[in-house]
Amino acid sequence: MPFPDGFLFGASTSAHQTEGGNTTSDWWHLENRDGTPLPEPSGDAADSYHRWPVDMDLLAELGFTDYRFGVEWARIEPEPGQFSRAAIAHYRRMVDGALDCGLRPMITLHHFTLPHWFAERGGWAAPDAVDRFARYAAAIAPILGEGVEYVCTINEPNLVAARTAPGALSPPSTGLPLPSAELTETLIAAHRAAGAAVKAIAPAVRTGWSVANQVCQAVPGAEETMLAYRRPREDVFIEAAREDDWIGVQAYTRTRVGRHGPLPVPEGAEVTLTGWEYYPAALGQALRHTAALVGDVPIIVTENGIATRDDHRRVAYTHRALQDLARALADGLDIRGYLHWSALDTYEWGSYRPTFGLIAVDPHSFLRVPKPSARWLGRMARSGTLPPPTL
Ligand code: BGC
Repeated sequence: MPFPDGFLFGASTSAHQTEGGNTTSDWWHLENRDGTPLPEPSGDAADSYHRWPVDMDLLAELGFTDYRFGVEWARIEPEPGQFSRAAIAHYRRMVDGALDCGLRPMITLHHFTLPHWFAERGGWAAPDAVDRFARYAAAIAPILGEGVEYVCTINEPNLVAARTAPGALSPPSTGLPLPSAELTETLIAAHRAAGAAVKAIAPAVRTGWSVANQVCQAVPGAEETMLAYRRPREDVFIEAAREDDWIGVQAYTRTRVGRHGPLPVPEGAEVTLTGWEYYPAALGQALRHTAALVGDVPIIVTENGIATRDDHRRVAYTHRALQDLARALADGLDIRGYLHWSALDTYEWGSYRPTFGLIAVDPHSFLRVPKPSARWLGRMARSGTLPPPTL
């Protein structure tokens, strides 16, 4: 398969979902407070705060060339204005460790979790939210100084915006709540301010953000409802990337929209461990929709995957997604990489049950065991061709 030179072949994780012990974050407080709506706390997660060298060695051995991971704002600035030199040094060691084993690091600055103090002061609604985020981005200069080519400022800003709206923990089949226009503007401003702060430190770094593509499909007669539903929840975030160096596409499933809004998963459809419809065609459609809105900004798939215990299904899903990616490339879309979600089985925002990982993690010993799908995808990274969908 004709992947362009320098194509990013890799996998992604986020800080909170893998590191464990993220005690100064808002999510830790949510997970552990009385009456929490979340079934399980993150606890030690995959202990990647300590075991990241094992994760990186495995990914490199499997054949991957790129690794997207997060730095945790709550650890770097555990109290307002107090920047932890130890945490910054920790993440710099991770960047150096990735480079040493032949992985190009892509760094995410904000992946859903906030410092507890920031959330307490109103989170993104606080009047100084944009400045605080930009100050954090500037403070991590030692991490980004050398060797980092790609920075993702905010992961899925459209979900961040929607989750801060009322009803945010409702299941996906009911669709996303409507983000407020103010919050959307704040996130766009925060993205731009952080991007500028990163460029001031390291002008060669390519900055962008990753949008959660809902892959909205109108049932006949519901086109206008679909467009009105999608625009504030997705399109404005894609369009905001028109001046960026790249845009991240993240796609898992589709959202069918009827005359009155999003519809539940069709009866009888196969569903994954997150309750989402098994719909591997999501990626190709998300790529084409993004390209149509963003203009000639290069695209990187920063997340795509499936929560399943059946590794054959993971391979079948990923194979179809990559076939569609190859067709989009052949049609001239400027796609620069594919990073699978997730490198590891991780904390899935309230539960360890949905397993997205290419690598299994034993919750007691933290032993990592690559699944056959990891070797399958690693083979593609090594050879630059899509293997048949068999293990
Ligand atoms: C998020 C990940 C999450 C994944 C699967 C994306 O929305 O960026 O943190 O684990 O989807 O739900």
